[in-house]
Amino acid sequence: MNNIADIRETLLERLATLETKSDILKAPELKALFASIKDQPVEERAAFGQSINQLQQELKNSIAIAEQETAVVEPLDVTAPWDVNTGPVSLLPSEQGTIHPLTREIETLSGIFERMGFAIEQSREIDDQYHMFESLNFPLGHPARDDWDTFMTEETDKNGEPLIAPAHTSTMQNRMLRKYKANLEAGEPIAVTIPDRTFRNEDLDARHEHTFYQVEGIYVAKNVNAGMLIATLQEFLQEYYGKVLDVRVNPFYFPFTEPSFEFALSCPFCEKKGCNICSYEGWIELLGCGMIHPYVLKAADIDPNEYTGFAFGCGVDRLVMMKYGIEDVRHFQSGKLDFLRQF
Ligand code: FA5
Repeated sequence: MNNIADIRETLLERLATLETKSDILKAPELKALFASIKDQPVEERAAFGQSINQLQQELKNSIAIAEQETAVVEPLDVTAPWDVNTGPVSLLPSEQGTIHPLTREIETLSGIFERMGFAIEQSREIDDQYHMFESLNFPLGHPARDDWDTFMTEETDKNGEPLIAPAHTSTMQNRMLRKYKANLEAGEPIAVTIPDRTFRNEDLDARHEHTFYQVEGIYVAKNVNAGMLIATLQEFLQEYYGKVLDVRVNPFYFPFTEPSFEFALSCPFCEKKGCNICSYEGWIELLGCGMIHPYVLKAADIDPNEYTGFAFGCGVDRLVMMKYGIEDVRHFQSGKLDFLRQF
């Protein structure tokens, strides 16, 4: 065995000097050791053979380490494929992109409502049945629930009912009434508008999209009446369009307002003669509104004997269509550059 230890030392020293490291495995001393296994006494033969195998393995490991250390590593090309120090590519103004017309118009109309004393709030893109229906006086099983063409999720709320992509911004009424209730106690009105996205499982046409924007308005104080509602909307429309418009106000039905009305504008595409955009009616329905139902106030812990209010929900896409003579609501979501570059 001592012989093996001496040979190990000799071979490791020689390995350090060799250019081709694997040559050490051909060393005559190693060969001689393997050859001498058969000459060992039978009882020592196995242990002897094992020691030589260990030595051979140690030599192989040392060869691998030495080869790794001397391996030539190819340098990686880290040159950037373009010059990162140059500025942005210069584009023609028409290629640079613009703010989407709906975004821009929402800013404009929010500015008008702000000047009229309304706070601006946001809606949400998923809601529950309580805010979509119950809080708005649609009890469970109310037939009007089916009129709203709601998109529902497979996921359910804490009551096990499907969640909803809001079909109108009125889903925010209860939250806003609660949030601003302290205003009433301080002798101030609740005055909020909520411009945001809404979703309906509709048959699509020139006036109907599945995804569109509404702006909700809520005003509550003492002695609010329907005259104030109509005056507020007329003032807003006049400010937005910059002129007095031909407006039609019809009685309507919503479970959450009483009385309820529908505002329509005379069709700018045919001047009331009738065309396919207004379905040959001469008028385009723009918004629904009314005096907030006492049930809705009570659901937000507001005493309807002390306070009254109005609410409205206006279709932003239609508002913008009629401002710019856009004949099809579907242009807004189409991503068509020919359309978008006009704004
Ligand atoms: C409502 O959504 C009520 N929440 C409005 C309301 C609010 C009434 C507060 C009372 C108090 P309506 O479904 O009529 O009502 O929709 C209101 C407006 O949204 C319509 O007048 C129209 O301008 C717009 N609108 C409705 N559906 C679509 C659609 N599919 N595509 C584009 N605009 C639409």
